[in-house]
Amino acid sequence: MYRDFAGIYDELMHDVDYKKWFDYIENIYVKEGITPAKVLEMACGTGSLTRYLAEAKYDITCFDLSLEMLTVAESKLRKYRNVKILNQDMIDFNLGGQYDSIISICDSINYILEDEDLDKVFENAYKHLSDDGIFIFDINSAYYLSEIISNNNFVEDRGEVFYSWESYYDEEEKINQFYINFFVKEEDGSYNRFIEEHYERAYEVDEIIEKLNKAGFKDIKYYQAFSYDEIDSKTERINFIVKK
Ligand SMILES: C[S@@+](CC[C@H](N)C(=O)[O-])C[C@H]1O[C@@H](n2cnc3c(N)ncnc32)[C@H](O)[C@@H]1O
Repeated sequence: MYRDFAGIYDELMHDVDYKKWFDYIENIYVKEGITPAKVLEMACGTGSLTRYLAEAKYDITCFDLSLEMLTVAESKLRKYRNVKILNQDMIDFNLGGQYDSIISICDSINYILEDEDLDKVFENAYKHLSDDGIFIFDINSAYYLSEIISNNNFVEDRGEVFYSWESYYDEEEKINQFYINFFVKEEDGSYNRFIEEHYERAYEVDEIIEKLNKAGFKDIKYYQAFSYDEIDSKTERINFIVKK
């Protein structure tokens, strides 16, 4: 669960180009011949993508499980009249309406660790998606979680924030644990230390497709993220484009 990490999340994500992510999503809309008005963003985090969607005048509802992440999101998004922010769980939400597009980016889906829970996420997405709507999400590939990030422990000194990032991959559970030790500089020059543990489950593409089918989705495409290229054994991020 994102707690104190939320306050420095954007600082640590400095190299993530959310404008590129936004452009990719809009490009998908054009390619798929869809002009969504109502958009639902699941697991919006600190609202970095949401801000671009808001600027583009979509009617947006976004939610996240972590209140701490939403607090940061709220500070970025409060000036937009077309954004509604909610504290909800992807596994169990009922907003009582349908959306032209549902999106979830930056491997938030990997945070769903149990099979039954991912089934529920996809059932909820199906229920909340209009008949000609489009569901877009990405995952960290099983290859990335089991071969790349799990062997990539590192420390970074960003002045105000110093952290060590360790990963442990459980072959049996197919779950990667991120163990992050933060030291954040306080006003008096001392450092506040806190630890967060995050877990991401590795899913094979076939497992995702099976679950999407089970939820009722029929038109399922997937590509290397930010492109329309076929995935290969070394693809690290996979983007799904899904319709009913
Ligand atoms: C890697 S962050 C991505 C955040 C944001 N989408 C971004 O692009 O920066 C994963 C997010 O998923 C959220 N999350 C994890 N499990 C969730 C759940 N069951 N329901 C809603 N949000 C969840 C976390 O709180 C966190 O904000």
